[in-house]
Amino acid sequence: MKVFVVFGTRPEAIKMCPLVLKLKEERNIECVVCLTGQHKEMLKQVMDAFDVQEDYNLEIMKDRQTLTTITTSILEKIEPVLQKEKPDVVLVHGDTTTSYAAALAAFYQQIPVGHVEAGLRTGNIYSPFPEEMNRLLTDRISTMFFAPTEDNKKNLSSEGINNNVFVTGNTVIDAFQYTVKSDYKFSDEALNTLDFSSSRVITLTAHRRENLGQPLRNICNAVKKIAVEYADVTFVYPVHLNPAVRDVVFDVLGNVSNIKLIDPVDVLDMHNLLARSFMIMTDSGGLQEEAPHFGKPVLVLRTETERPEAVEAGTVKVVGVEENDIYESAKKLLDDSDAYENMAHAINPYGDGRASERIVEALLSR
Ligand code: UD1
Ligand code: UDP
Repeated sequence: MKVFVVFGTRPEAIKMCPLVLKLKEERNIECVVCLTGQHKEMLKQVMDAFDVQEDYNLEIMKDRQTLTTITTSILEKIEPVLQKEKPDVVLVHGDTTTSYAAALAAFYQQIPVGHVEAGLRTGNIYSPFPEEMNRLLTDRISTMFFAPTEDNKKNLSSEGINNNVFVTGNTVIDAFQYTVKSDYKFSDEALNTLDFSSSRVITLTAHRRENLGQPLRNICNAVKKIAVEYADVTFVYPVHLNPAVRDVVFDVLGNVSNIKLIDPVDVLDMHNLLARSFMIMTDSGGLQEEAPHFGKPVLVLRTETERPEAVEAGTVKVVGVEENDIYESAKKLLDDSDAYENMAHAINPYGDGRASERIVEALLSR
């Protein structure tokens, strides 16, 4: 069976590399890896960390790229590759424009599509934007569905998708086998200089398209207020390479001594940083799944989430994008140890680290 795996951004790579490594172990499977190159440096960091080599890289990334150019470049550049490789199945991941465009391109060649991380929904097509529509459309095109949780399976069922749905867990939990070490030494020197015992380290990330502009400014203002008020807190913010993110972040947070603005770190550094942090503030999807595994409270800098499992378990809280709401929520966890302890418990609704194995089994069973 020839399995053609496509991904293009950092989070897809982190969640697909463990699966690629498992596919490559199987004698009955030929695994071809195609990067769209929607991300460049941030994608390479992940490929290097997992030591996965791609067969194709469409290299589509442009500075300040638009959704239209991402979509059309992928459609045009992947067509000849699919025609040459003629795979039995194309696997895409999640909700990026890479996922949707690659699924559509496979459909145009009448190649079946398997969707890894299928069935996540907020119910609002503009939030997250454009991810909610990307995953809806990808699920319409797909014929195999690898749903991380039972809730995700229910979402698919409510849209009439009931066949070939496999609840596998999320492959992000598989990734920890490769990344987390108790005696880890960071490769980013700024992280090695942090004192995790005398200061409370808050890991912060924000990059989402719907947060660009005023919401991101609100987030930064709230963070600055907390940093100025709490000398024993150190914020670490690996800032996404998107210039629309960097312009605002460096403008508001550039000159605060206990806010460390660093370049994106590799996934080994990131997972080991999460394990040592006091708490996480983020608009990322992946971090909402990862941080609860380490028992770290997460404040989600968005108005909704497609990952309700950890919210229900009490370790993740959606706090919105208003300055005062973010400030008050962070302050509560810093001042009130009971509130902190209530959130700081390890839970794992996203699997047992064997999601990739289950996906491989499901593919072979067809
Ligand atoms: C994309 C995904 C989003 C995902 C995020 C993960 C879409 C529409 N968005 O959003 O779902 O959460 O990736 O990070 O698919 N850039 C670089 N180097 C890199 C990566 C990005 O310079 O390695 C810069 C480029 O100027 C690029 C910009 O960042 O134009 C935005 O990248 P893009 O992939 O369009 O959007 P993300 O916000 O990263
Ligand atoms: N991550 C990383 N380095 C960083 C920031 C994040 O390796 O500097 C990892 C993080 O641990 C998670 C993933 O990137 O696995 C999340 O990616 P991102 O926030 O870009 O996308 P999202 O999850 O929101 O789609």
